[in-house]
Amino acid sequence: MSSNESSSTPVKSTGLHVGAIKPGVAKKDPILVADGVHRQFGGLVAVDVEHVEIPRNAITALIGPNGAGKTTFFNLLTGFDQPDRGAWSFNGNSLAKLSAFKVARRGLIRTFQLTKALGLLTVMDNMKLGSTEQTGEKLSASLFPFLWKKKEIEIEAKALEILTRFKLDTKRDDFAASLSGGQRKLLEMARALMTNPELVMLDEPMAGVNPALTQSLLDHILNLKKDGMTVLFVEHDMQMVRHIADWVIVMAEGKVVAEGSPDEVMKNTAVIDAYLGSHQDIDLGAVTGRITLPKISKEK
Ligand SMILES: Nc1ncnc2c1ncn2[C@@H]1O[C@H](COP(=O)(O)OP(=O)(O)OP(=O)(O)O)[C@@H](O)[C@H]1O
Ligand SMILES: [Mg+2]
Repeated sequence: MSSNESSSTPVKSTGLHVGAIKPGVAKKDPILVADGVHRQFGGLVAVDVEHVEIPRNAITALIGPNGAGKTTFFNLLTGFDQPDRGAWSFNGNSLAKLSAFKVARRGLIRTFQLTKALGLLTVMDNMKLGSTEQTGEKLSASLFPFLWKKKEIEIEAKALEILTRFKLDTKRDDFAASLSGGQRKLLEMARALMTNPELVMLDEPMAGVNPALTQSLLDHILNLKKDGMTVLFVEHDMQMVRHIADWVIVMAEGKVVAEGSPDEVMKNTAVIDAYLGSHQDIDLGAVTGRITLPKISKEK
């Protein structure tokens, strides 16, 4: 498969839901199901999701204005934060109270809105740290160095294969700090793949990425689906969402306020309202293709 193939119009997955479309609509084959997930910070309710299902082997975009609770929801689902209440399951098994490390071992991995690549480690060391198969950490294996060595070689070969796919192989010995912002985003995505995930959650993978790398990032996201994975990603750029997402979930003030195919969702008044709340400056005409914004004075 060449990357040129995937940069043309990607094939969209359809027929993902069951019954009438509404927030929380059931999916034919959900990989992740969340119920009553609630997180409050002092007096502020950041997340209050009644019910949501993420369709398997599809690309779902999670959109919503700043402060809608998207990152907090990611943190809760992946064990980086604990909710006040609520339940959620991955492949039918509850993930409640599991640490982020154990969640990753189950096959659910996430990347961060602000990249977490460790600047003072090399690109290769960052990749190795991403592996959940660090046999060398186990006592039994450390008693048998040859086992550890064999595993280490396998991990390195796998890292190199992924780095090559992401065109970062020539940077393997460079410090992550020397990479551009976009390359660090690529490294973070590459590192996530070290765990052989089933569900990859990307928090604003395109933010701050130089346009020259955007297409490559988009292609990598599309390839994750081709390789059988499920993707849930947060993105503010509606053109990108429209281009690659099979399904869109809209959050506002901690709740899921709309769902549907990208085209349908972008016509939805709840979505337009949610964005008007804090995105007065975005061109909703471009979002929906049919709305002309009331003139907001833009004096300089
Ligand atoms: N650790 C925290 N302590 C207190 N308040 C928090 C904390 N984390 C998030 N919040 C608040 O929770 C709300 C949701 O934040 P969150 O970062 O989840 O939004 P978001 O949808 O990811 O926004 P953005 O699009 O700007 O990334 C915001 O009002 C935020 O200020
Ligand atoms: Mg966020």
